[in-house]
Amino acid sequence: MRKRLLSGMRPTGPLHLGNYHGALANWVRLQEEYDCFFFIADWHALTSDYEKPDFLKGFSDDIMLDWLSVGLTPEQSTLFVQSHIKEHAELFLLLCMITPVPWLERNPTYKDQIEQLSTKDLSTFGFLGYPVLQAADIIMYKPFGVPVGVDQAPHVEITREIARRFNYFYGPVFPEPEVILTETPKLLGTDRRKMSKSYGNAIFLSDPADVVAAKVATMITDPQRMRKSDPGNPDVCNVFDFHKLYSPPEFVAEVNRRCRTADIGCVECKKRMGQYLNAFLDPIREKRRYYQERPGRVAEILAAGDAKARQTACRTMEEVRAAIKL
Ligand code: TRP
Ligand code: SF4
Repeated sequence: MRKRLLSGMRPTGPLHLGNYHGALANWVRLQEEYDCFFFIADWHALTSDYEKPDFLKGFSDDIMLDWLSVGLTPEQSTLFVQSHIKEHAELFLLLCMITPVPWLERNPTYKDQIEQLSTKDLSTFGFLGYPVLQAADIIMYKPFGVPVGVDQAPHVEITREIARRFNYFYGPVFPEPEVILTETPKLLGTDRRKMSKSYGNAIFLSDPADVVAAKVATMITDPQRMRKSDPGNPDVCNVFDFHKLYSPPEFVAEVNRRCRTADIGCVECKKRMGQYLNAFLDPIREKRRYYQERPGRVAEILAAGDAKARQTACRTMEEVRAAIKL
């Protein structure tokens, strides 16, 4: 029996290279070794986008295509949508009964998000309860671990505390899941800020080759390098970080040398990087096209994932109701 892992993503837009290296690449590797459950957390997206949920369905469809095109496979992973498994809502409700409000109020991402997303009114019960819903998502499937970025570690910690409290009151039902931290290579957006859809600096997995080339051409390089005749410093150049991910090692070494001696200009350097990046994206594009042309197959994959998740969730909920003597 393979150990189980579970993770989820909110459908906030098409996925970009930051999402790929921050999560997806890791998931694709992990599915070889573990019994993986990956789901689209559409209810979680609703906690902050409740005023304008119009895009949720479209974004969920985009993300499923992104997942399949990078190589998550229904043979190895169970892919499903949170809102299709109503048991998550029932477990969430029961966990609400035992979760002390101060645990949620002191959650570091809670205050953080309220400040950062100041244009949205997040003083809602649902937003405060975000980690309780996440705990329900997780413990429902009794996973051994939860592969997430470091920003999600506090949520997994609250999940462990909630699981412990449940077991203390009602008997041992839930194992405490481990955080499996994802190592993320450094990769900034085209403007050198964190790559994010909302900054408009992202390169999407679904961008066509000419769009990628155009975005790469606008990338900020070594800010000290004004003219082609000035020597550059690859160590502070975001384009060089991209080269390290997408270009062959010989070419990375060549850029490293020729940049420092002003033997290659940034325009050419970026152009070459864009070509290697497009070569990396080509097989992903090809798989996307395959699934785009077969919407019936995608629907089938999702239906099978939902069914498998539901089966596990129903079994857990029977145990839960029995433990609480409902
Ligand atoms: N909160 C996670 C994020 O924003 C998404 C998420 C929801 C999740 N439920 C989860 C992640 C359960 C892991 C496990 O990225
Ligand atoms: Fe960056 Fe390449 Fe320009 Fe050097 S030549 S500063 S590595 S873009």
